[in-house]
Amino acid sequence: MPRAAAALQTVLDEITEIARASENRGKVADYIPELAGVNPDQFAIAVARPGQPPLVAGDVDVPFSIQSVSKVFMLALALGKLGDRLWSRVGREPSGLSFDSMLLLELEKGYPRNPFINAGAIVTTDAVLQGSIPREALGALLRFIRAAAGDEAIHINERVAQSEIATGHRNFALAHYLSSHENLKNAPDLTLGTYFHQCAVEMTCAQLANAGLFLVGGAGAPRLVSEARIRRINALMMTCGHYDGSGDYAFRVGLPGKSGVGGGILSIVPGIASIAVWSPGLNHYGNSKLGTEAMERLASRTGWSVFGPDTRQTDG
Ligand code: DON
Repeated sequence: MPRAAAALQTVLDEITEIARASENRGKVADYIPELAGVNPDQFAIAVARPGQPPLVAGDVDVPFSIQSVSKVFMLALALGKLGDRLWSRVGREPSGLSFDSMLLLELEKGYPRNPFINAGAIVTTDAVLQGSIPREALGALLRFIRAAAGDEAIHINERVAQSEIATGHRNFALAHYLSSHENLKNAPDLTLGTYFHQCAVEMTCAQLANAGLFLVGGAGAPRLVSEARIRRINALMMTCGHYDGSGDYAFRVGLPGKSGVGGGILSIVPGIASIAVWSPGLNHYGNSKLGTEAMERLASRTGWSVFGPDTRQTDG
């Protein structure tokens, strides 16, 4: 292993040891019954760099439910289909509210703040589904993710999707409210069925880090979207990817990131690397607690931040 990779591997091993020893691991999401039983003691991290095998540490062979991280891939597909016309249906401002909030949707007449809160993601999925059927839209999503990751084994966990179809009352409320403002073009059940299945995509950390390489850009990275679109998706991940915790993530980590209630986080170091971290316990924003802490450590140790390196190594 080259010296730089060996040094990075040591950092990942140390971060994993600290995570494994942590006592306060956050709370596993239990509003999706199929996820409620996931063992909170698990932790994994992977760093993928274009043209190099990913570096991994922790429970790297365990696939997890990527949940809202899927919204990044669906956004790339929706932008590919509609281009800037997507922004007539969904905004690009942080919401400052939780991922499943309904508050602003009523005030702002069915125009969701951004594509990463649930309401905005349901609209994004609806745009991809329009003129198609759920099986085709999900096929396109899987093809995109598999091409990005270079891995044909990535799949959807049907039990997780069905678990959410049976219990996702808030998302049904959001979808029907969007429909009342004519911001869904398909029947709410069809759009939601597609949305719940996209959230149920499963990956290991290495698969997710590889799948994120299309957002790294530069030589050797998979070219699935234009450089201009990479820049915009990364901007949205930075400002909206952690919901009402996005400011805190930017402050602590300083990288574009997208979280999911399965405990996964995908973060991008533009031009350098794609990082996936997973630990199922969540903080009060609904983002992985140990995952965020690990990302903060990794950004500090490597100097990987779009705002410059953390030379002080202090809290402030
Ligand atoms: O729609 C939901 O509630 C879930 N399928 C996804 C939410 C999610 O991952 C929020 N992220 N932290």
